[in-house]
Amino acid sequence: MDFELKTFDLADACRQKCDALVAVVTDDGMAGDDPVSRLVQDARKSGDFESKPGKLLQAWRVEGVAARRVVIAGAGDGSGKRVQAAVQAAVGGLRHKAIKRLVVALPGSAGDDAVRAAVVATADSSYAYVATKSKADGRAIERVTLSVPASVTAHRQAFDAARGTAAGIEFARELGNLPPNVATPTRLGDEARKLAKAHGFRCEVLGPKEVERLGMGSFMAVARGSEEPLRFIVLQYRGAAESQAPVVLVGKGITFDSGGISIKPAPEMDEMKFDMSGAASVLGTFRALGELKPKLNVVGLIPACENLPDGRSMKPGDVLTSMSGQTIEVLNTDAEGRLILCDALTYAERFKPRAVVDIATLTGACVIALGGVRSGLFASDDNLARALQEAGDAALDLCWRMPLDDEYGDGLKTNFADVANVAGRPAGSVTAAKFLQRFAGKYPWAHLDIAGTAWKGGAAKGSTGRPVGLLVQYLLSQQDGKATATTKATAPAKAGRRKAAAR
Ligand code: BES
Ligand code: MN
Ligand code: ZN
Repeated sequence: MDFELKTFDLADACRQKCDALVAVVTDDGMAGDDPVSRLVQDARKSGDFESKPGKLLQAWRVEGVAARRVVIAGAGDGSGKRVQAAVQAAVGGLRHKAIKRLVVALPGSAGDDAVRAAVVATADSSYAYVATKSKADGRAIERVTLSVPASVTAHRQAFDAARGTAAGIEFARELGNLPPNVATPTRLGDEARKLAKAHGFRCEVLGPKEVERLGMGSFMAVARGSEEPLRFIVLQYRGAAESQAPVVLVGKGITFDSGGISIKPAPEMDEMKFDMSGAASVLGTFRALGELKPKLNVVGLIPACENLPDGRSMKPGDVLTSMSGQTIEVLNTDAEGRLILCDALTYAERFKPRAVVDIATLTGACVIALGGVRSGLFASDDNLARALQEAGDAALDLCWRMPLDDEYGDGLKTNFADVANVAGRPAGSVTAAKFLQRFAGKYPWAHLDIAGTAWKGGAAKGSTGRPVGLLVQYLLSQQDGKATATTKATAPAKAGRRKAAAR
């Protein structure tokens, strides 16, 4: 989808030849003397239209409007969140129509947050999955013009960032939606290589032999039950001097999670194809980096494999030796995400990172705790936590900080290894994070549990592309000269000292 930003008032927008015009209307209304403003004034007077977010007024062949369809969308106070709701309702309603050219007109009061929300929500609401359908019934919008009455230069930066972000979100969504017999570990590796080639990233895709040489005994144990060979993907984006410590993103790439020997029940097991959404969000974020080229260094690490039952699968009681040297007793083979992430977190040490953020559909418990509204955020560093939370707020891709008190780690004690891979049922998302924290002591670290936010179930079943919006916003905020004292992660040395406390 092509996006462009233009300076138009509503009278100009009415003259644009296109298939549909979406006019976003706020509470402070429309005083203009163009056909759409008059329509709004009229409909308001008669009580047929309210500017509440999500309210629509649709019209066909309005006199003086070049577009065949006009959709007037209420956006309340005009904040990013309200504009998001307006655009979702309006563009979502146009999805199955033959719309090639779309104009979205923002009101004069629109700020950068409204511009960002409009771009991302337009892309999001017009996405249609067609990859594995024999007939492509999704009709793609080809070109979107976003119009603002003010000079475009004022909004250029926000617009460009949003456009790059939207491309990243779409990329993650598409990968997440692909079936597990297509989106295999090998395919994820190929996608990473393709991205690297297109945007000039460094990329290494390691296979079973190299991973064995690295001593990733925990990751290897998960992959052992599958015929699909594992992949360990290392992507590197350089936007600043080599000497600058990178941010490392680690994405859980379980391309199908059956639970393994601790097999899951059959209902909804298909949804476990989305268990690579963390990996997809890292790849989607790199897609956005390729477009936006911010001034910082970023490394992406993806351990990718399937979790299946087999004669060679790991089994409850097995003790694994992780790359860190810590031994792990497997008490439940369905707690596999932490087993592949822990080795990736150890691998991350070699980059001497300024911060490491892992992203994982890690626990059903996080779905129970936070549902689909906010991702779970766990962090060993307050500044990193604050920066991620602020990025989520700005991108309308929310998260919520969860605790990491040492007492939560007590349930991971075992007589047979340094640590067990599960504790009891209480606080399941916290104990999973406590497990990861043992492997992330050498740098400021945060963990996003996206089990509730990465996809939707039910009739709207599908990947959401979250938390690409949050991650891109966070990385943009960490550019040279941008990170403020409050958003910079605390120095790694301090995090190192925290390691002892984490154990
Ligand atoms: N991929 C799942 C987590 C999950 C479950 C995400 C449901 C979304 C919806 C993860 O690998 C898993 O199976 N976790 C277990 C952990 C348990 C065995 C301690 C869980 O949450 O049940
Ligand atoms: Mn599992
Ligand atoms: Zn899983």
